[in-house]
Amino acid sequence: MNMKAESCTLLSPALALLDRIQNRSARVGVVGLGYVGLPFAVEKAKVGFRVLGFDRNPARVGQVNRAANYIGDVRDADLKDVVLRAGLLEATESFERLAEMDVVVICVPTPLTRNLTPDLQYIEAVTRELARRLRPGQLVCLESTTYPGTTEEVMKPLLEASGLKEGIDFHLAFSPERVDPGNKRYTTRNTNKVVGAASPASREVALAFYRETIVDVVPVSSSQAAEMVKVFENTFRAVNIALVNELAMLCDRMGLDVWEVLDAAGTKPFGLMSFYPGPGVGGHCIPLDPHYLEWKAREFNFNTRFIALAGEINRRMPEFVLEKAMRLLSDHGRGLKTARVLVLGVAYKKDVDDARESPGAEVLQLLAARGATVAYHDPLVPRFQEHGLDLRSVPLTADGLDGADLVLILTDHTAVDYRFVVKHARLVLDTRFATRGVAAGRAEVVLL
Ligand SMILES: NC(=O)c1ccc[n+]([C@@H]2O[C@H](COP(=O)([O-])OP(=O)(O)OC[C@H]3O[C@@H](n4cnc5c(N)ncnc54)[C@H](O)[C@@H]3O)[C@@H](O)[C@H]2O)c1
Repeated sequence: MNMKAESCTLLSPALALLDRIQNRSARVGVVGLGYVGLPFAVEKAKVGFRVLGFDRNPARVGQVNRAANYIGDVRDADLKDVVLRAGLLEATESFERLAEMDVVVICVPTPLTRNLTPDLQYIEAVTRELARRLRPGQLVCLESTTYPGTTEEVMKPLLEASGLKEGIDFHLAFSPERVDPGNKRYTTRNTNKVVGAASPASREVALAFYRETIVDVVPVSSSQAAEMVKVFENTFRAVNIALVNELAMLCDRMGLDVWEVLDAAGTKPFGLMSFYPGPGVGGHCIPLDPHYLEWKAREFNFNTRFIALAGEINRRMPEFVLEKAMRLLSDHGRGLKTARVLVLGVAYKKDVDDARESPGAEVLQLLAARGATVAYHDPLVPRFQEHGLDLRSVPLTADGLDGADLVLILTDHTAVDYRFVVKHARLVLDTRFATRGVAAGRAEVVLL
Protein backbone atom coordinates (compact mmCIF):
# COMPACT_ATOMS: atom_id res chain seq x y z
CA MET A 1 0.00 0.00 0.00
CA ASN A 2 1.23 3.43 -0.89
CA MET A 3 0.84 4.87 2.59
CA LYS A 4 2.15 8.36 3.31
CA ALA A 5 4.66 7.96 6.20
CA GLU A 6 2.87 6.31 9.17
CA SER A 7 4.52 8.64 11.65
CA CYS A 8 5.80 12.12 10.98
CA THR A 9 7.22 15.05 12.84
CA LEU A 10 4.36 17.05 14.24
CA LEU A 11 4.56 20.81 14.64
CA SER A 12 3.59 22.53 17.84
CA PRO A 13 -0.12 23.23 17.01
CA ALA A 14 -0.58 19.51 16.29
CA LEU A 15 1.34 18.43 19.39
CA ALA A 16 -0.75 20.70 21.58
CA LEU A 17 -3.94 19.33 20.02
CA LEU A 18 -2.78 15.72 20.49
CA ASP A 19 -2.23 16.51 24.13
CA ARG A 20 -5.71 17.92 24.53
CA ILE A 21 -7.23 14.94 22.69
CA GLN A 22 -5.40 12.47 24.89
CA ASN A 23 -6.30 14.18 28.15
CA ARG A 24 -9.83 14.77 26.77
CA SER A 25 -9.77 18.50 27.33
CA ALA A 26 -10.19 19.09 23.57
CA ARG A 27 -13.47 20.83 22.68
CA VAL A 28 -15.34 18.84 20.06
CA GLY A 29 -17.81 20.44 17.64
CA VAL A 30 -20.24 18.26 15.68
CA VAL A 31 -21.97 20.00 12.77
CA GLY A 32 -25.25 18.36 11.71
CA LEU A 33 -27.11 16.60 14.53
CA GLY A 34 -28.96 13.93 12.54
CA TYR A 35 -28.75 10.13 12.33
CA VAL A 36 -24.96 10.35 12.15
CA GLY A 37 -24.08 13.46 14.14
CA LEU A 38 -26.14 12.96 17.30
CA PRO A 39 -24.95 9.40 18.11
CA PHE A 40 -21.38 10.54 17.44
CA ALA A 41 -21.75 13.59 19.71
CA VAL A 42 -23.21 11.46 22.52
CA GLU A 43 -20.43 8.88 22.17
CA LYS A 44 -17.73 11.56 22.47
CA ALA A 45 -19.44 13.20 25.46
CA LYS A 46 -19.82 9.82 27.18
CA VAL A 47 -16.04 9.47 27.41
CA GLY A 48 -15.59 12.96 28.85
CA PHE A 49 -15.12 15.32 25.89
CA ARG A 50 -17.02 18.60 26.06
CA VAL A 51 -19.11 18.53 22.89
CA LEU A 52 -20.98 21.33 21.18
CA GLY A 53 -23.43 20.35 18.46
CA PHE A 54 -24.15 22.80 15.64
CA ASP A 55 -27.34 22.56 13.62
CA ARG A 56 -29.24 25.09 11.56
CA ASN A 57 -32.51 23.48 12.60
CA PRO A 58 -33.62 25.31 15.78
CA ALA A 59 -36.04 22.52 16.71
CA ARG A 60 -33.19 19.99 16.85
CA VAL A 61 -30.98 22.36 18.82
CA GLY A 62 -33.79 22.84 21.38
CA GLN A 63 -34.40 19.09 21.60
CA VAL A 64 -30.73 18.36 22.30
CA ASN A 65 -30.56 21.06 24.96
CA ARG A 66 -33.65 19.60 26.64
CA ALA A 67 -32.27 16.06 26.18
CA ALA A 68 -35.41 15.20 24.21
CA ASN A 69 -34.21 12.33 22.05
CA TYR A 70 -35.21 12.10 18.39
CA ILE A 71 -32.76 9.48 17.03
CA GLY A 72 -33.58 5.80 17.56
CA ASP A 73 -29.94 4.72 17.87
CA VAL A 74 -29.34 7.06 20.81
CA ARG A 75 -30.42 5.79 24.22
CA ASP A 76 -32.66 8.29 26.04
CA ALA A 77 -30.74 7.67 29.26
CA ASP A 78 -27.38 8.39 27.57
CA LEU A 79 -28.62 11.68 26.14
CA LYS A 80 -30.06 12.76 29.50
CA ASP A 81 -26.85 11.77 31.21
CA VAL A 82 -24.48 13.74 28.96
CA VAL A 83 -26.78 16.77 28.59
CA LEU A 84 -28.53 17.16 31.93
CA ARG A 85 -26.35 15.39 34.48
CA ALA A 86 -22.78 15.82 33.19
CA GLY A 87 -23.37 18.98 31.12
CA LEU A 88 -20.94 17.67 28.49
CA LEU A 89 -23.19 18.08 25.46
CA GLU A 90 -25.05 21.17 24.34
CA ALA A 91 -26.21 22.47 20.98
CA THR A 92 -26.33 25.77 19.18
CA GLU A 93 -27.45 27.34 15.91
CA SER A 94 -24.63 29.90 16.03
CA PHE A 95 -21.51 29.20 14.00
CA GLU A 96 -19.62 31.88 15.95
CA ARG A 97 -18.65 29.25 18.49
CA LEU A 98 -16.82 27.16 15.88
CA ALA A 99 -13.70 29.12 16.78
CA GLU A 100 -13.78 27.66 20.31
CA MET A 101 -13.57 24.10 18.98
CA ASP A 102 -10.36 22.07 18.78
CA VAL A 103 -11.94 19.42 16.58
CA VAL A 104 -14.85 19.95 14.19
CA VAL A 105 -16.64 16.90 12.80
CA ILE A 106 -19.00 17.52 9.86
CA CYS A 107 -22.04 15.25 9.44
CA VAL A 108 -24.32 17.23 7.11
CA PRO A 109 -26.44 15.75 4.29
CA THR A 110 -25.03 14.93 0.86
CA PRO A 111 -28.09 14.65 -1.38
CA LEU A 112 -28.32 14.52 -5.16
CA THR A 113 -29.54 17.28 -7.44
CA ARG A 114 -32.59 16.67 -9.64
CA ASN A 115 -30.19 15.47 -12.33
CA LEU A 116 -28.62 12.87 -10.02
CA THR A 117 -25.36 14.80 -9.61
CA PRO A 118 -23.68 15.43 -6.21
CA ASP A 119 -25.14 18.33 -4.26
CA LEU A 120 -22.35 19.54 -1.97
CA GLN A 121 -24.10 22.75 -0.91
CA TYR A 122 -24.26 21.71 2.78
CA ILE A 123 -20.60 20.70 2.97
CA GLU A 124 -19.57 23.90 1.20
CA ALA A 125 -21.75 26.11 3.41
CA VAL A 126 -20.31 24.64 6.60
CA THR A 127 -16.74 24.77 5.26
CA ARG A 128 -17.15 28.49 4.45
CA GLU A 129 -18.44 29.15 7.98
CA LEU A 130 -15.45 27.28 9.33
CA ALA A 131 -12.95 29.06 7.06
CA ARG A 132 -14.09 32.41 8.48
CA ARG A 133 -13.22 31.28 11.98
CA LEU A 134 -10.38 28.83 11.39
CA ARG A 135 -7.48 29.11 13.81
CA PRO A 136 -4.15 27.27 14.14
CA GLY A 137 -4.31 23.89 15.85
CA GLN A 138 -7.81 22.84 14.74
CA LEU A 139 -8.69 19.44 13.26
CA VAL A 140 -11.53 19.29 10.73
CA CYS A 141 -13.02 15.88 9.90
CA LEU A 142 -15.64 15.24 7.26
CA GLU A 143 -17.93 12.26 7.88
CA SER A 144 -20.61 12.81 5.23
CA THR A 145 -20.59 10.27 2.42
CA THR A 146 -19.20 11.76 -0.77
CA TYR A 147 -17.13 11.11 -3.89
CA PRO A 148 -13.33 10.65 -3.75
CA GLY A 149 -11.73 14.08 -3.89
CA THR A 150 -14.24 16.15 -1.90
CA THR A 151 -12.04 16.70 1.15
CA GLU A 152 -8.99 17.84 -0.78
CA GLU A 153 -10.51 19.35 -3.92
CA VAL A 154 -13.47 21.15 -2.35
CA MET A 155 -12.83 21.66 1.36
CA LYS A 156 -9.09 22.20 1.49
CA PRO A 157 -9.01 25.22 -0.90
CA LEU A 158 -11.96 26.83 0.92
CA LEU A 159 -10.21 26.39 4.27
CA GLU A 160 -6.81 27.50 2.98
CA ALA A 161 -8.41 30.71 1.68
CA SER A 162 -8.21 31.71 5.35
CA GLY A 163 -4.44 32.02 4.89
CA LEU A 164 -3.73 28.96 7.09
CA LYS A 165 -1.98 25.87 5.62
CA GLU A 166 -3.33 22.35 5.90
CA GLY A 167 -0.94 19.93 7.65
CA ILE A 168 0.93 22.82 9.23
CA ASP A 169 -1.56 25.20 10.83
CA PHE A 170 -4.71 23.10 10.74
CA HIS A 171 -5.54 19.47 10.02
CA LEU A 172 -8.02 17.94 7.64
CA ALA A 173 -9.28 14.35 7.42
CA PHE A 174 -12.09 12.22 6.06
CA SER A 175 -13.58 9.42 8.11
CA PRO A 176 -16.78 7.90 6.73
CA GLU A 177 -19.60 7.12 9.10
CA ARG A 178 -20.72 3.52 8.81
CA VAL A 179 -23.63 3.61 11.26
CA ASP A 180 -26.38 1.14 10.39
CA PRO A 181 -29.57 2.63 11.87
CA GLY A 182 -31.50 0.06 13.88
CA ASN A 183 -28.49 -2.28 14.23
CA LYS A 184 -28.26 -3.19 17.92
CA ARG A 185 -25.03 -5.17 17.60
CA TYR A 186 -22.88 -2.70 15.69
CA THR A 187 -23.07 0.89 16.89
CA THR A 188 -20.94 4.01 16.44
CA ARG A 189 -18.51 2.75 19.09
CA ASN A 190 -17.79 -0.82 17.99
CA THR A 191 -17.89 -0.40 14.20
CA ASN A 192 -14.39 -0.14 12.72
CA LYS A 193 -13.67 3.33 11.40
CA VAL A 194 -11.61 4.15 8.34
CA VAL A 195 -9.53 7.34 8.47
CA GLY A 196 -7.70 9.04 5.61
CA ALA A 197 -6.27 12.53 5.62
CA ALA A 198 -4.89 15.28 3.44
CA SER A 199 -1.36 14.94 4.91
CA PRO A 200 0.57 12.60 7.26
CA ALA A 201 0.31 15.13 10.10
CA SER A 202 -3.46 15.38 9.69
CA ARG A 203 -3.75 11.59 9.62
CA GLU A 204 -1.83 11.24 12.84
CA VAL A 205 -3.99 13.77 14.68
CA ALA A 206 -7.23 12.34 13.26
CA LEU A 207 -6.24 8.77 14.19
CA ALA A 208 -5.54 9.88 17.75
CA PHE A 209 -8.94 11.58 17.92
CA TYR A 210 -10.92 8.58 16.65
CA ARG A 211 -8.96 6.08 18.75
CA GLU A 212 -10.32 7.75 21.89
CA THR A 213 -13.82 6.36 21.28
CA ILE A 214 -13.76 3.80 18.48
CA VAL A 215 -12.64 0.26 19.19
CA ASP A 216 -10.81 -0.27 15.85
CA VAL A 217 -9.54 2.54 13.66
CA VAL A 218 -8.29 1.66 10.17
CA PRO A 219 -5.86 4.12 8.59
CA VAL A 220 -5.69 4.47 4.80
CA SER A 221 -3.18 6.38 2.73
CA SER A 222 -5.29 9.40 1.73
CA SER A 223 -8.63 11.12 2.16
CA GLN A 224 -9.53 10.01 -1.39
CA ALA A 225 -8.99 6.35 -0.45
CA ALA A 226 -11.22 6.77 2.63
CA GLU A 227 -13.91 8.44 0.49
CA MET A 228 -13.70 5.60 -2.03
CA VAL A 229 -14.02 2.99 0.75
CA LYS A 230 -17.38 4.42 1.81
CA VAL A 231 -18.90 4.76 -1.66
CA PHE A 232 -17.63 1.28 -2.52
CA GLU A 233 -19.30 -0.19 0.59
CA ASN A 234 -22.66 1.30 -0.33
CA THR A 235 -22.24 0.38 -3.99
CA PHE A 236 -21.49 -3.20 -2.91
CA ARG A 237 -24.84 -3.30 -1.13
CA ALA A 238 -26.71 -1.67 -4.01
CA VAL A 239 -25.27 -4.17 -6.52
CA ASN A 240 -25.93 -7.24 -4.36
CA ILE A 241 -29.46 -6.14 -3.55
CA ALA A 242 -30.03 -5.64 -7.29
CA LEU A 243 -28.72 -9.14 -7.94
CA VAL A 244 -31.25 -10.75 -5.57
CA ASN A 245 -34.01 -8.45 -6.81
CA GLU A 246 -33.34 -9.65 -10.33
CA LEU A 247 -33.31 -13.24 -9.08
CA ALA A 248 -36.68 -12.62 -7.40
CA MET A 249 -38.19 -11.41 -10.70
CA LEU A 250 -36.74 -14.41 -12.56
CA CYS A 251 -37.94 -16.88 -9.90
CA ASP A 252 -41.41 -15.33 -10.13
CA ARG A 253 -41.44 -15.97 -13.86
CA MET A 254 -40.08 -19.51 -13.46
CA GLY A 255 -42.49 -20.41 -10.66
CA LEU A 256 -39.71 -20.81 -8.10
CA ASP A 257 -39.67 -19.55 -4.52
CA VAL A 258 -36.74 -17.10 -4.31
CA TRP A 259 -36.71 -17.25 -0.50
CA GLU A 260 -36.26 -21.01 -0.53
CA VAL A 261 -33.42 -20.60 -3.02
CA LEU A 262 -31.72 -17.88 -0.96
CA ASP A 263 -32.16 -19.73 2.33
CA ALA A 264 -30.56 -22.83 0.86
CA ALA A 265 -27.76 -20.84 -0.82
CA GLY A 266 -27.12 -19.13 2.52
CA THR A 267 -26.13 -22.45 4.07
CA LYS A 268 -22.90 -22.41 2.06
CA PRO A 269 -20.25 -21.79 4.71
CA PHE A 270 -17.92 -19.80 2.44
CA GLY A 271 -17.95 -17.59 -0.64
CA LEU A 272 -21.50 -16.28 -0.28
CA MET A 273 -23.00 -13.37 1.59
CA SER A 274 -26.77 -13.29 2.04
CA PHE A 275 -28.81 -10.41 0.65
CA TYR A 276 -32.60 -10.37 0.33
CA PRO A 277 -34.99 -8.95 -2.23
CA GLY A 278 -37.63 -6.34 -1.45
CA PRO A 279 -39.79 -3.59 -2.93
CA GLY A 280 -36.76 -1.44 -3.80
CA VAL A 281 -34.04 0.45 -1.96
CA GLY A 282 -34.49 3.53 0.18
CA GLY A 283 -32.91 5.72 2.82
CA HIS A 284 -30.30 8.37 2.29
CA CYS A 285 -27.45 6.03 1.39
CA ILE A 286 -27.97 3.12 -1.01
CA PRO A 287 -30.10 4.92 -3.64
CA LEU A 288 -27.86 8.03 -3.59
CA ASP A 289 -24.23 7.29 -2.83
CA PRO A 290 -23.35 5.14 -5.88
CA HIS A 291 -24.34 8.14 -8.04
CA TYR A 292 -21.60 10.17 -6.36
CA LEU A 293 -19.05 7.68 -7.64
CA GLU A 294 -20.73 7.39 -11.04
CA TRP A 295 -20.48 11.19 -11.43
CA LYS A 296 -16.84 11.35 -10.39
CA ALA A 297 -15.88 8.45 -12.68
CA ARG A 298 -17.09 10.47 -15.68
CA GLU A 299 -14.28 12.95 -15.03
CA PHE A 300 -11.94 10.05 -15.80
CA ASN A 301 -13.89 9.07 -18.93
CA PHE A 302 -15.04 5.91 -17.14
CA ASN A 303 -18.51 4.34 -17.09
CA THR A 304 -19.43 2.56 -13.85
CA ARG A 305 -21.68 -0.03 -15.48
CA PHE A 306 -22.48 -2.06 -12.35
CA ILE A 307 -23.80 1.08 -10.64
CA ALA A 308 -26.03 1.97 -13.56
CA LEU A 309 -27.38 -1.57 -13.86
CA ALA A 310 -28.00 -1.94 -10.12
CA GLY A 311 -29.85 1.39 -10.07
CA GLU A 312 -31.99 0.33 -13.02
CA ILE A 313 -32.99 -2.99 -11.43
CA ASN A 314 -33.61 -1.59 -7.95
CA ARG A 315 -35.71 1.27 -9.35
CA ARG A 316 -37.84 -1.27 -11.23
CA MET A 317 -38.94 -3.08 -8.05
CA PRO A 318 -41.93 -0.87 -7.11
CA GLU A 319 -43.38 -1.55 -10.59
CA PHE A 320 -42.78 -5.26 -10.11
CA VAL A 321 -44.61 -5.16 -6.75
CA LEU A 322 -47.52 -3.38 -8.47
CA GLU A 323 -47.66 -5.98 -11.26
CA LYS A 324 -47.60 -8.82 -8.76
CA ALA A 325 -50.32 -7.18 -6.64
CA MET A 326 -52.51 -6.76 -9.73
CA ARG A 327 -51.98 -10.38 -10.77
CA LEU A 328 -52.81 -11.60 -7.29
CA LEU A 329 -55.98 -9.54 -7.04
CA SER A 330 -57.05 -10.64 -10.49
CA ASP A 331 -56.52 -14.30 -9.49
CA HIS A 332 -59.03 -13.57 -6.72
CA GLY A 333 -61.51 -11.93 -9.06
CA ARG A 334 -60.67 -8.35 -8.08
CA GLY A 335 -59.36 -5.43 -10.07
CA LEU A 336 -57.01 -2.89 -8.58
CA LYS A 337 -59.40 -0.08 -9.52
CA THR A 338 -61.92 -1.09 -6.88
CA ALA A 339 -59.52 -2.70 -4.42
CA ARG A 340 -58.71 -1.55 -0.91
CA VAL A 341 -55.02 -2.06 -0.22
CA LEU A 342 -53.52 -1.83 3.25
CA VAL A 343 -49.75 -1.33 3.16
CA LEU A 344 -47.76 -2.51 6.19
CA GLY A 345 -44.53 -0.54 6.66
CA VAL A 346 -43.38 2.57 4.82
CA ALA A 347 -40.00 3.05 6.52
CA TYR A 348 -37.26 2.21 4.06
CA LYS A 349 -36.11 -0.71 6.20
CA LYS A 350 -36.91 -2.80 9.22
CA ASP A 351 -37.10 -1.17 12.66
CA VAL A 352 -36.15 2.37 11.62
CA ASP A 353 -38.39 5.45 11.62
CA ASP A 354 -36.71 6.86 8.51
CA ALA A 355 -38.97 7.01 5.44
CA ARG A 356 -36.70 9.12 3.22
CA GLU A 357 -36.51 7.80 -0.34
CA SER A 358 -38.59 4.83 0.77
CA PRO A 359 -39.81 2.64 -2.10
CA GLY A 360 -43.11 2.61 -0.22
CA ALA A 361 -43.83 6.09 -1.59
CA GLU A 362 -43.65 4.91 -5.18
CA VAL A 363 -45.64 1.75 -4.48
CA LEU A 364 -48.41 3.77 -2.81
CA GLN A 365 -48.42 6.27 -5.68
CA LEU A 366 -48.58 3.51 -8.30
CA LEU A 367 -51.46 1.81 -6.49
CA ALA A 368 -53.38 5.07 -6.10
CA ALA A 369 -52.75 6.03 -9.73
CA ARG A 370 -54.44 2.76 -10.77
CA GLY A 371 -57.49 3.65 -8.71
CA ALA A 372 -56.87 1.56 -5.57
CA THR A 373 -57.95 2.93 -2.20
CA VAL A 374 -54.79 2.92 -0.15
CA ALA A 375 -53.98 3.21 3.55
CA TYR A 376 -50.87 2.29 5.50
CA HIS A 377 -49.86 1.19 8.96
CA ASP A 378 -46.35 1.77 10.29
CA PRO A 379 -45.73 1.81 14.05
CA LEU A 380 -42.56 3.90 13.52
CA VAL A 381 -43.80 6.36 10.89
CA PRO A 382 -47.01 8.03 12.12
CA ARG A 383 -47.07 10.46 9.20
CA PHE A 384 -45.72 9.74 5.72
CA GLN A 385 -44.79 12.80 3.71
CA GLU A 386 -42.68 11.70 0.78
CA HIS A 387 -42.87 12.53 -2.92
CA GLY A 388 -46.02 14.62 -2.57
CA LEU A 389 -47.86 12.12 -0.38
CA ASP A 390 -49.22 13.15 2.99
CA LEU A 391 -50.77 10.17 4.76
CA ARG A 392 -51.22 9.15 8.39
CA SER A 393 -50.72 5.66 9.73
CA VAL A 394 -53.99 3.85 10.49
CA PRO A 395 -54.27 1.53 13.50
CA LEU A 396 -53.69 -2.17 12.86
CA THR A 397 -57.05 -3.77 13.71
CA ALA A 398 -58.76 -7.04 12.88
CA ASP A 399 -61.47 -5.10 11.02
CA GLY A 400 -58.93 -3.05 9.08
CA LEU A 401 -57.12 -6.20 7.97
CA ASP A 402 -60.32 -8.04 7.11
CA GLY A 403 -61.64 -5.01 5.21
CA ALA A 404 -58.64 -4.89 2.88
CA ASP A 405 -58.72 -6.79 -0.40
CA LEU A 406 -54.95 -6.98 -0.18
CA VAL A 407 -52.51 -6.48 2.68
CA LEU A 408 -49.15 -5.55 1.21
CA ILE A 409 -46.12 -5.93 3.48
CA LEU A 410 -43.36 -3.54 2.40
CA THR A 411 -41.31 -3.28 5.63
CA ASP A 412 -40.81 -6.09 8.13
CA HIS A 413 -40.83 -4.15 11.41
CA THR A 414 -40.39 -6.37 14.45
CA ALA A 415 -43.14 -4.50 16.32
CA VAL A 416 -45.86 -5.76 13.96
CA ASP A 417 -47.62 -8.98 15.02
CA TYR A 418 -47.61 -10.94 11.77
CA ARG A 419 -49.53 -13.85 13.32
CA PHE A 420 -52.34 -11.35 13.96
CA VAL A 421 -52.01 -10.06 10.38
CA VAL A 422 -52.26 -13.52 8.87
CA LYS A 423 -55.15 -14.43 11.17
CA HIS A 424 -57.34 -11.49 10.12
CA ALA A 425 -56.29 -10.60 6.58
CA ARG A 426 -57.76 -12.30 3.56
CA LEU A 427 -54.92 -11.94 1.07
CA VAL A 428 -51.32 -10.95 1.80
CA LEU A 429 -48.47 -10.05 -0.54
CA ASP A 430 -45.32 -10.22 1.55
CA THR A 431 -42.30 -8.55 -0.10
CA ARG A 432 -39.95 -9.18 2.88
CA PHE A 433 -40.87 -12.66 4.08
CA ALA A 434 -42.05 -11.05 7.32
CA THR A 435 -44.58 -13.88 7.70
CA ARG A 436 -41.83 -16.49 7.96
CA GLY A 437 -43.07 -19.14 10.40
CA VAL A 438 -46.53 -17.60 10.86
CA ALA A 439 -48.06 -18.02 7.42
CA ALA A 440 -50.58 -20.64 8.58
CA GLY A 441 -53.83 -18.75 9.25
CA ARG A 442 -56.83 -17.37 7.45
CA ALA A 443 -54.98 -15.29 4.85
CA GLU A 444 -53.55 -16.62 1.66
CA VAL A 445 -49.95 -15.42 1.80
CA VAL A 446 -47.92 -14.89 -1.36
CA LEU A 447 -44.25 -13.96 -1.22
CA LEU A 448 -42.46 -11.58 -3.58
N1 LIG B 1 -28.26 7.94 8.02
C1 LIG B 1 -27.36 7.00 7.81
O1 LIG B 1 -27.64 5.83 8.02
C2 LIG B 1 -25.97 7.31 7.35
C3 LIG B 1 -24.98 6.34 7.48
C4 LIG B 1 -23.69 6.62 7.08
C5 LIG B 1 -23.43 7.86 6.48
N2 LIG B 1 -24.42 8.77 6.32
C6 LIG B 1 -24.05 10.06 5.71
O2 LIG B 1 -23.92 11.02 6.75
C7 LIG B 1 -24.34 12.31 6.31
C8 LIG B 1 -25.42 12.84 7.22
O3 LIG B 1 -26.55 11.97 7.13
P1 LIG B 1 -27.69 11.94 8.22
O4 LIG B 1 -28.54 10.75 7.89
O5 LIG B 1 -27.13 12.07 9.59
O6 LIG B 1 -28.49 13.27 7.84
P2 LIG B 1 -29.67 13.97 8.68
O7 LIG B 1 -30.53 14.63 7.67
O8 LIG B 1 -30.27 13.00 9.63
O9 LIG B 1 -28.90 15.07 9.54
C9 LIG B 1 -28.23 16.12 8.98
C10 LIG B 1 -28.33 17.31 9.92
O10 LIG B 1 -27.54 18.37 9.36
C11 LIG B 1 -28.21 19.59 9.57
N3 LIG B 1 -27.69 20.58 8.63
C12 LIG B 1 -27.89 20.68 7.30
N4 LIG B 1 -27.22 21.71 6.80
C13 LIG B 1 -26.55 22.27 7.82
C14 LIG B 1 -25.70 23.38 7.92
N5 LIG B 1 -25.37 24.11 6.84
N6 LIG B 1 -25.21 23.69 9.12
C15 LIG B 1 -25.54 22.97 10.22
N7 LIG B 1 -26.36 21.90 10.19
C16 LIG B 1 -26.86 21.56 8.99
C17 LIG B 1 -29.68 19.25 9.38
O11 LIG B 1 -30.51 20.21 10.00
C18 LIG B 1 -29.75 17.88 10.07
O12 LIG B 1 -30.08 17.97 11.42
C19 LIG B 1 -24.77 12.12 4.86
O13 LIG B 1 -23.68 12.36 4.03
C20 LIG B 1 -25.12 10.64 4.80
O14 LIG B 1 -24.99 10.13 3.49
C21 LIG B 1 -25.68 8.54 6.77
